[in-house]
Amino acid sequence: MVKITAATEADLDVLANIEAASFSVPWTRRMLEVELMANPYSYVLTARMSSAQMEQDHVSGYICFWIVFDELRVMNLAVEPSARRQGIGLQLVTCALHDAIGQGATRALLEVRSSNTIALALYGKLGFQEYGVRKAYYTNPDEDAILMCLDPVKLLGDEMRDLSEACY
Ligand SMILES: CC(C)(COP(=O)(O)OP(=O)(O)OC[C@H]1O[C@@H](n2cnc3c(N)ncnc32)[C@H](O)[C@@H]1OP(=O)(O)O)[C@@H](O)C(=O)NCCC(=O)NCCS
Repeated sequence: MVKITAATEADLDVLANIEAASFSVPWTRRMLEVELMANPYSYVLTARMSSAQMEQDHVSGYICFWIVFDELRVMNLAVEPSARRQGIGLQLVTCALHDAIGQGATRALLEVRSSNTIALALYGKLGFQEYGVRKAYYTNPDEDAILMCLDPVKLLGDEMRDLSEACY
C-alpha cells in the first residue's frame, strides 16, 4: 500500500539517493534540505510503501512543488527505479494538484526534458498540455525543455478523485 505524506528531515538521505538514481544532474541532499526547511513556497511529499513484511515504511518516491500565489510549479518528481510503473508518480502529482487546488491555485506549470517521453506521458494523462519550448535549458546532456501547463488546475475524472484519497 502506498501513502503520500509530507517529507521530514529524516527522509533527506533517501530522497538524495532517489535523486541520484533518477537524474543525470541530481539535486543534492543540501538542495533538498533547502526546499524542505528553508523555502516557504516549497512543499515536499513522499510516497511511502508499507506491507506486513516491512517493519518500517519505505520511501519510494517524492515530489517537490512550489505554490506561489495562484500558481503550482512542479519542481521535481522521482520514483526509485524498482518501484516505477505502479502508479506512484501519478499519485504524487495528483496529491500536489489536490493540495494546490485546496490552496486556491488556478494553474499548474512545469518543464520536462524533451526526451523524457515517460514524464511527458504521465503529465499528459493528468491533462497537462505543451505550450512552448525553452531552448537548451538542460545540461548533461544539453537539451530543450518542453513547457507544460494545466490551466485551469483540476483533477480528472473518478479515477483521479480516488487516487487523491491516498493523500495524507
Ligand atoms: C517519471 C516517473 C516519476 C514516473 O513514475 P512512475 O511511478 O513509474 O509512473 P506511473 O506508474 O504513475 O505511470 C503513470 C503514467 O506515466 C507513463 N509511464 C510511466 N512509465 C512508463 C514507461 N516505462 N513507458 C511509457 N510510459 C510510462 C504512462 O502513461 C503511465 O500510465 P499507465 O501506467 O496507465 O500507462 C519515473 O519514471 C521517474 O522517476 N523517472 C526519472 C525521473 C524523472 O524523469 N522525473 C520527471 C521529471 S519532470
